[in-house]
Amino acid sequence: MYKCISPTRFPYGRKEEWSVYRWHSNRDQSRVLPVSGKHCSQYKRELIFPLSLKFLSLQALVLYIAVCGIATHAVFKHYEPSSVVIHGALLIIFPLVLSALLTSHLHLSNAIITAFSTFHGTLCSSILLYRLSPLHSLYQFPGPVFCKISKVSFAWISSHGTQHVYVRQLHDKYGDIVRIGPNEISIRDVSLINAVMGTQGLPKGPSLAGRTFQSKFTSLIGLRDPHAHFIRRKPWNRALNMSAIKEFQPILTARAAQLVESVGQQQDIFDLSRWFGFFTYDFMCDMVFGGGSEMLREGDPQQHWDRMQKAIDALMWLDHLPWLADYARKFPRSVATISNGRMSGIKRIERRKNEGVSRKDLMYSLSNEDIGGDTPPHEIVLLEGFLAIVAGSDTTSGVLSNVFYYLLSNPEVYKRLQSEVDRYYPTSEDSLDPQYYPQMPYLDAVINETLRLMPAVPSGSQRAPLIGSGGKLVGP
Ligand code: HEM
Repeated sequence: MYKCISPTRFPYGRKEEWSVYRWHSNRDQSRVLPVSGKHCSQYKRELIFPLSLKFLSLQALVLYIAVCGIATHAVFKHYEPSSVVIHGALLIIFPLVLSALLTSHLHLSNAIITAFSTFHGTLCSSILLYRLSPLHSLYQFPGPVFCKISKVSFAWISSHGTQHVYVRQLHDKYGDIVRIGPNEISIRDVSLINAVMGTQGLPKGPSLAGRTFQSKFTSLIGLRDPHAHFIRRKPWNRALNMSAIKEFQPILTARAAQLVESVGQQQDIFDLSRWFGFFTYDFMCDMVFGGGSEMLREGDPQQHWDRMQKAIDALMWLDHLPWLADYARKFPRSVATISNGRMSGIKRIERRKNEGVSRKDLMYSLSNEDIGGDTPPHEIVLLEGFLAIVAGSDTTSGVLSNVFYYLLSNPEVYKRLQSEVDRYYPTSEDSLDPQYYPQMPYLDAVINETLRLMPAVPSGSQRAPLIGSGGKLVGP
């Protein structure tokens, strides 16, 4: 048992002297430690920290905290923890506990400030130096320094929709392989497309997995494990094969006719891209769950489209900083834009699920209703349905808007395309009947060139070897 002694028994002078004195007295009377009194907390801390640390000079203790900062970098590098709780423990609790070491030399507030600045200063310096050093495995690849040290600037550029322009500028400056993040490179070499993106290429990277942060499941597009992806892909393959796609043709034609009519009725200046959004959203709702959206007729009073667009912009941050997903999960208010966009889509899909099948829509296959198999978990079906709506409407409306943007800003091209359309579709032909589309080279070229200049998915298709797989060697 420890005996309670009064702190006044100690000769208090300067803190350093006091510390040394106490050590001697403790060694002399090793079982005598105060358990109450105003200095009790300092003694209790001795039970937590090794006594030997307390005798160190202030400089030595600061050095010790700096080493802890470097050790924390090693932990982050090795385990790549993404949980908010672990981040809190390593980045707040740990330096806070370390600051107790300094209280024998400094006032509590100064001890905390010194411990935090030393710990985080060395942690950040260690990370920065490592990422720029030849020790990093991507050291040999050129790129801007701020991309090498963090992906924040890249995420910011992406959230403004100009990632593809920025990446092209980087390739023009640095060559075909550019380091665009601490652990990421961009490749422009056509000969590597198959090795990286082909069926035998690399699995998906972590970027899209962060998107489904609100669910314990990941939708098809974010699945990194090739086997899990293959299994989940099966109903999609059934739903989107050529004969299934043909069944959607009449619905698409009807929606296109509705778009032409609606746009034709506009009197004042209007936002054509918004109408393309309504068109693709209405059609995707038809395709995915047999209807339920009439934006072309009624507009968007509940702002489904606007919310979805805002959510997609905000998701760019999660694409590039996927470790933010757990923060988004823990602090839902910070991602209200994304949640609102997602919820309005999910509610519609839930309604469709409860109503049952009206015709062979995408949900019919995604729920395995077409083969009479086991229905996948409810949440997966909702996620997949939502993926289809977003992937199908945002991309196609973007491409249509961009095609018209380039056509209107290049009258020569517009004229040439118009003459091709007139050739294949004179007034006697229905221009919404796609039978001649495959034979129209200029139309094809206009669409492809638009996709090249303004990719529909500007965030790209990230790939990465699976952790523990040993990586994959590509290139000459
Ligand atoms: C202009 C039109 C479109 C473009 C440019 C486009 C582009 C892309 C890209 C780049 C990916 C990511 C591929 C990857 O990283 O692995 C993707 C995936 C996907 N897209 Fe599209 N897309 C378009 C239209 C559609 C439509 C209409 C649907 C309708 C359902 C759709 C459904 C999907 C799905 C389900 C995935 C995930 C595929 C997988 O992981 O296996 N997309 N798309």
